[in-house]
Amino acid sequence: MSTAQSPALDMDKLNAFIGQFVTDLGAAVHTGMVVIGEKLGLYKALANGPVTASELAAKTQTDERYLKEWLASQAAGGYITYDASTGKFGLSQEQAFALAMEDSPAYLPGAFELALGSLAAVPRIAESFRTGAGMGWHEHDDGVFHGCEKFFRPGYAANLVSSWIPALHGVRERLEAGARVADVGCGKGASTLLMAKSFPKSRFYGFDYHDKSIAGARESARREGVADRVTFEVAKAKEFPGKDYDFVAVFDCLHDMGDPVGAAAHVRQSLADNGTWMIVEPFANDQLKDNLNPVGRVYYSFSTLLCTPCSRSQEVGLCLGAQAGEANIRNVVTTAGFSRFRRATETPFNIVYEARP
Ligand SMILES: C[S@@+](CC[C@H](N)C(=O)[O-])C[C@H]1O[C@@H](n2cnc3c(N)ncnc32)[C@H](O)[C@@H]1O
Repeated sequence: MSTAQSPALDMDKLNAFIGQFVTDLGAAVHTGMVVIGEKLGLYKALANGPVTASELAAKTQTDERYLKEWLASQAAGGYITYDASTGKFGLSQEQAFALAMEDSPAYLPGAFELALGSLAAVPRIAESFRTGAGMGWHEHDDGVFHGCEKFFRPGYAANLVSSWIPALHGVRERLEAGARVADVGCGKGASTLLMAKSFPKSRFYGFDYHDKSIAGARESARREGVADRVTFEVAKAKEFPGKDYDFVAVFDCLHDMGDPVGAAAHVRQSLADNGTWMIVEPFANDQLKDNLNPVGRVYYSFSTLLCTPCSRSQEVGLCLGAQAGEANIRNVVTTAGFSRFRRATETPFNIVYEARP
């Protein structure tokens, strides 16, 4: 008769891992808490100064009992402050900057909306692990489109005009003088509109295959008063119209495409001879072992739910993934016929590449 042997466990390692699990589980459910806090204006109300739960309930017209539970979850997670002597909740300057100021470069709630929207696809993606089926960007929950724009816009506002465009050869000067620009895979147009507002002499064309995102982008262009210089059209990256663009940009979408080489070849033939293609991709190293860190974890997880299935749903289905890395992007770009390619600049979250014919 054999006796089951229990494995020799290192209890310190086990306890450390369980500690990580508690943090992760709290963060996972916290996703919904942040989405609620943003939707109901709770962070913005807290940013006006410390309040009790009942004062906040009155200010935000919310149910006090629900609010008490939410406030406790936020204080436990370090997203808001709690003063036990006064019973008041509030935001530190830094929490207000990241959670209550939509224009701040560190505005975070959009990331949680994106996460919650992406997680709605889990049952279908789990099935895809067996079938290999794709799932188009357009098939996701609306929170994916809104959250993506809300999450990415602050980073673009902080970097695009002030450092990414100046890192490219002669592009800022051309945009200042008046250039023809295409923003391909523009989603809801956050990047297109930021550029249009900064370079009033240039003409901008935003393209995306997703009709709902394009409708949203058009609405934003009207609201922001630039619709006379910015046109948004539904078009695939391999088919978008127009020639002789001085500047083509793709933001966080080349890796989502089924046929990035085909898209790159189309960009190549749409550019003026002295035009520039800017490729913004998620930050990634070439070797898996070098991406096994918190940023890589975020990107690989979103990539499993969004980017890889999107690419798989389209022709070719190359599935570069959100952590493609420079070597893969270089290969796509040079295979498509570009003769010059370089990493122009980077942030902890993005790499900006420059390609020229
Ligand atoms: C992660 S989102 C990025 C959106 C936008 N560029 C931004 O930075 O906010 C990826 C976008 O790529 C678009 N997309 C995916 N495949 C495409 C294709 N083949 N042609 C055009 N757009 C595509 C999706 O519809 C989606 O809007």
